[in-house]
Amino acid sequence: MLFSSKNRNRLVGIDIGTTAAKLIELSRVGRAIRVDHYSYEPIAPGLIIEHQIKDIEQVGAAVQRLLARSGTKLKRAAGCVSSTNVISKGITVQSDIGEDELDALVEVEADRVVPYALDDVNIDYVNLGKSPQGDGEDQLQLVVCRKSVVESLAAVMEEADLEPAAVDVDHFALARVNSFVSESEMGSGKNKTAALMDFGFNTSRLLVFHDNRIIYTRENPYGGRQLIDSISQKYGLPPQDAAHALRNNELADTFKNDVLKPFVKTLMQEILRTLQFFYSSSTHNKVDKFLITGGCAQIGNIDKFIEKRIEVPTAILNPFAATRLGPKVDQARFRRDIPSLGVAAGLALRGVE
Ligand SMILES: Nc1ncnc2c1ncn2[C@@H]1O[C@H](COP(=O)(O)OP(=O)(O)OP(=O)(O)O)[C@@H](O)[C@H]1O
Ligand SMILES: [Mg+2]
Repeated sequence: MLFSSKNRNRLVGIDIGTTAAKLIELSRVGRAIRVDHYSYEPIAPGLIIEHQIKDIEQVGAAVQRLLARSGTKLKRAAGCVSSTNVISKGITVQSDIGEDELDALVEVEADRVVPYALDDVNIDYVNLGKSPQGDGEDQLQLVVCRKSVVESLAAVMEEADLEPAAVDVDHFALARVNSFVSESEMGSGKNKTAALMDFGFNTSRLLVFHDNRIIYTRENPYGGRQLIDSISQKYGLPPQDAAHALRNNELADTFKNDVLKPFVKTLMQEILRTLQFFYSSSTHNKVDKFLITGGCAQIGNIDKFIEKRIEVPTAILNPFAATRLGPKVDQARFRRDIPSLGVAAGLALRGVE
C-alpha cells in the first residue's frame, strides 16, 4: 500500500478505471462477509488517460454520483493506482532486519530503480514471505509510484468528500481477492499455480500466483478499447454510446458475428502469448487454474472459450461466491457486474481485514 491512515475503521473500496468507477462496501456479520453497497458509474472518455487522472473535478463528480447511487454512509475510501504507474522490484532481506535499517535499504533500492528524485515518489513494500533460496531471508516486493499519481487520486476522493484512507496498487488488490477465494472452489489452493487476468479497457494485466504468492506480473496494452472502437466504427456510434449499448445489450444482431467474434479471437491470442511469456521466463510450464476479471470477463461464455483454447480449467473470478448480499444491493445489476468487480472487491476487503 502506497499510503494508509492509522484509523482502522470501515471503508468503501473504489476502483476508478478508465471507463467506469466501481464501489463495493463490505461488512462482517458474525463470521460471514456481507456486501452492503455496490454501484457502478461510467467515466467519460478523456478524463483518465493512460491510467492518469486528467480532470480531478469531473472524475470527482463521477465519484460523487457513484457514492449517491450506492447509498453508502461511509466517508473513508480505499482506492488504487494502476500497476502501469508503478515501478516494482523484488529484493531479499535478512528476516531479522531492524525497522530503521529496512527503511534505509528500501530507499537505497528505490533510488536504483526510479528515474525521479526520491522526494517525488511514494515508496512501499510488501513482505512476500520466506525466500525459497536462503535461510533466514524474506522476499520483499518494493513498489514506487510518482507522488503526483497518488495525490491526484487523493484529490478526487476529497472532491467527492471522502477521506482517502488507503491507496493500493491494483495488483495487490487482486492478490487480496486471490487469497480471499483461495480456500474456495474458485481458488488455486496450496502448492498450486493460478493465473489471474484483468481485462480492462486500456490494459490487460496478468498475475500468476504460486501458493497464493505473486510470482509473476505482466501488463499488455490490450483490452476492451479494441472492442469499443470496432463497435463505434461498425455502427457509427461515439465511444460512450458504444460502451452503453454493449453494457445494456442493445446492439444489433450482427454484433456477435461481425464484431465480437473477431475480438474474442484476438483476445485468445493475447492470452496465449501472455502465458507463453510467463512460461518462458519461469521454471513453471503449466498453470492449474486460469481466472479472469475486468469488463471483458462479461462477454458471454468467455470462460468456456478460454478453457477450450488454453486447456486449463478457467473461471470468471467471483470474489463474492461465499459472501452474503445485503438488502440495499440491486441483485440483478450486481450479479451482472460481478466479472468487472475484482479490483473493487480487493479494495473493499481492506475494510473487513
Ligand atoms: N458486456 C460488457 N459490458 C461491459 N463492458 C464490456 C462488456 N463486454 C466487454 N466489455 C469491455 O470491458 C470494458 C470495461 O472494462 P473495465 O470496467 O474492466 O475497464 P476499466 O477498469 O474502466 O479500464 P482499465 O482497468 O483499463 O482502467 C469496456 O470498455 C468493454 O470494452
Ligand atoms: Mg480496471
